[in-house]
Amino acid sequence: MLIKRPADIKSSEITPEAVYNDRRRFMQTTAGLALAPLFASAAFAESMPNGQKLNYLQPKQFASSEPRSTFEQITHYNNFYEFGTDKYSPAELAQKLTVSPWSIAIEGEVEKPGVYTLEDILKPHSLEERIYRLRCVEGWSMVIPWVGFSLGDLIKRFKPTSGAKYVEFTTLSRPAEMVGQRRNVLDWPYVEGLRMDEAMHPLTLLAVGLYGEVMPKQNGAPIRLVVPWKYGFKSIKSIVKIRFVSKPPISSWMRSVPSEYGFYSNVNPEVDHPRWSQGRERRIGEFLKRETLKFNGYGEQVAQLYQGMDLRKYF
Ligand code: MTE
Repeated sequence: MLIKRPADIKSSEITPEAVYNDRRRFMQTTAGLALAPLFASAAFAESMPNGQKLNYLQPKQFASSEPRSTFEQITHYNNFYEFGTDKYSPAELAQKLTVSPWSIAIEGEVEKPGVYTLEDILKPHSLEERIYRLRCVEGWSMVIPWVGFSLGDLIKRFKPTSGAKYVEFTTLSRPAEMVGQRRNVLDWPYVEGLRMDEAMHPLTLLAVGLYGEVMPKQNGAPIRLVVPWKYGFKSIKSIVKIRFVSKPPISSWMRSVPSEYGFYSNVNPEVDHPRWSQGRERRIGEFLKRETLKFNGYGEQVAQLYQGMDLRKYF
């Protein structure tokens, strides 16, 4: 993964708390009460432009009280190699991506494989806001108010068989629209994987929006993974395939640089990247670096998944 110095986005650009809270109140009252249906799912396919509001719940769990990164920061400093290897191109180039219609193929060790439309995928689920820290392997971080639902709830619907030990996720392949795919910077399409218990963990989110709005294209529209205790590259964007398998999937980054990127990729300040320390991170918009927390601060929830494992070996 390329190392670039994070843009020093001015702290004056950070959304004042009051403005953000006003937006949240708007969402809870006008755009739908907490228990209202998410959105008319039939209309969802037509309603993809940015700025489309989502209805969602405010869960009590998983709510970080840290100041959120601004919408501007979250949508203008992106890693999305399908739209260029720098942080600024995706905001512009991803706008070409057609995200409707969209479907996801469910394959492998499940009783109910098939190709499901985005509507089929979303219909039974309630959306929640989850404010998660995202720690990128390159040493920067943000706090993002995602809107989505637990991946585990979706997985249960497909009834995985006993052979399903891992889950492999694949991003769309469409070089006509994804200009970065015309260059061999990675082995396209982008692939990521999780162990089954990681995929089923309630923190693991399938996100369809952020800041209460439909997912901006540069952030992985229409649907992406968010695994907050792992380095950001595990959080694969624009997913078109979910495959249940018996062996650990080989992710794009493992295939590209196996000595630098392992399957687990848990945020771990004690295990440095071969080319740089992982001890500290720069929150986008801040000047001073802060200490990186093991499992990105989610150890209480997820450390037991790795009990007895040598996390230096399984990096
Ligand atoms: N997914 C795809 N398909 N392609 C990518 O290049 N980049 C990853 C991850 N998901 C990436 C991807 C990396 S390195 C990070 S840090 C996060 O997306 C960034 O997500 P964000 O742009 O929403 O902050």
